[in-house]
Amino acid sequence: MLVPMRAILEAADQNGYAQGAFNVNAVCQAKAVIRVHETFRSPAILQGADLANGFMGGRKDFLNATLEDKKRGAKNIADAVRRFGTESPIPIALHLDHGKTLDSCVAAVEGGYTSVMIDGSHLPFEENVELTREVVKYAHARGVTVEGELGVLAGVEDHVFAEGSTYTNPLHAVDFFRKTGVDALAISYGTMHGANKGKNAVIRKEIAIAIKENLRHEGIEGFLVSHGSSTVPRYIVDEINALGGELKDANGIDVGQLIEASRCGINKINVDTDIRLAVTRNIKELFAGDKALRSSASIGEIYELLEKNKAAFDPRVFITPIMDTVMTGEIPDDDVARICDCIEAGVKEVVGTLIVRFESFGKAPKVKPVTLEEMEAYYRSRGI
Ligand code: G3H
Ligand code: 13P
Ligand code: ZN
Repeated sequence: MLVPMRAILEAADQNGYAQGAFNVNAVCQAKAVIRVHETFRSPAILQGADLANGFMGGRKDFLNATLEDKKRGAKNIADAVRRFGTESPIPIALHLDHGKTLDSCVAAVEGGYTSVMIDGSHLPFEENVELTREVVKYAHARGVTVEGELGVLAGVEDHVFAEGSTYTNPLHAVDFFRKTGVDALAISYGTMHGANKGKNAVIRKEIAIAIKENLRHEGIEGFLVSHGSSTVPRYIVDEINALGGELKDANGIDVGQLIEASRCGINKINVDTDIRLAVTRNIKELFAGDKALRSSASIGEIYELLEKNKAAFDPRVFITPIMDTVMTGEIPDDDVARICDCIEAGVKEVVGTLIVRFESFGKAPKVKPVTLEEMEAYYRSRGI
């Protein structure tokens, strides 16, 4: 069933495991994320980023996506998640990742998302509070969970309390929870987005410990989120490069550090890059193994795009020739089916591994099966 994300985070917090949150950019990816969580009886968080919604709304140049594109994409992906997830035995949340504006959040909720992130981390503290409060007011009135962000990702080791540090200040974090009423907060503590995180990225778990401890003192039940947490598996990077890819300086976060962070107050761990890498590897492998596909009427152009963009690993760069399938999940012919198999297998390889490492397997029954209506009543009774 679909649930507000808060219910999934509560279970992770109370039972001491980490919950992965996995980005999707196409309907068949959402299907695969749900199915692999079902296999492991894990609760599931799927996330569509603001720009990803534009892409799933049919916008090939998604960097220029309009609000209308995002609305269409949010609806497309939410329809698919309902189709695959409503009757599912596991709890599933669909979360907007890095929502830029209140309008983006509204588009997601109207489409059927059960959780939104408003990322005001680039704003001065008070403006971030203001924007986040607006989103909380809108979302909580509908039982929808809200994640905010404080601190700027991409830190350099040991700069934690230095002047001008971009790491999250634990005191500000507690103040942010109090002033905004957010359910969850993304913090900057040493991780960063993308496949180039530096050779020995160090997570400053002390930051999570400090925030969580202070929240307890203040009687606030808030959850912490680790963004930029892909592990960038070395074997996948090597395979991409062996297939003609040109990935340089690719390094991720050590999974042991993520597990440790989850024991120090991190409840949700965001992963996108690892999925992109596995899917890219699979599609390259498909064309390397079956050369006839390179001139396929429906997917030959995917091969051309791969060849033109050897340093890229975001499938949105290559899969534009099958936009209808991206948006609806409909499969017009056998060749497109093979691309979808590549996408689904890539998702399952990476997500399955992390469900096991994060220990969310078997935890589906720990999540209270609350509805958005019940969650709305909960917020109303507490005045948040
Ligand atoms: O945290 C960012 C995610 O990886 C989403 O990326 O904005 O390119 O869709 P995107
Ligand atoms: P990665 O780029 O490390 O996968 O981070 C994903 C993320 O933070 C999505 O919000
Ligand atoms: Zn992120």
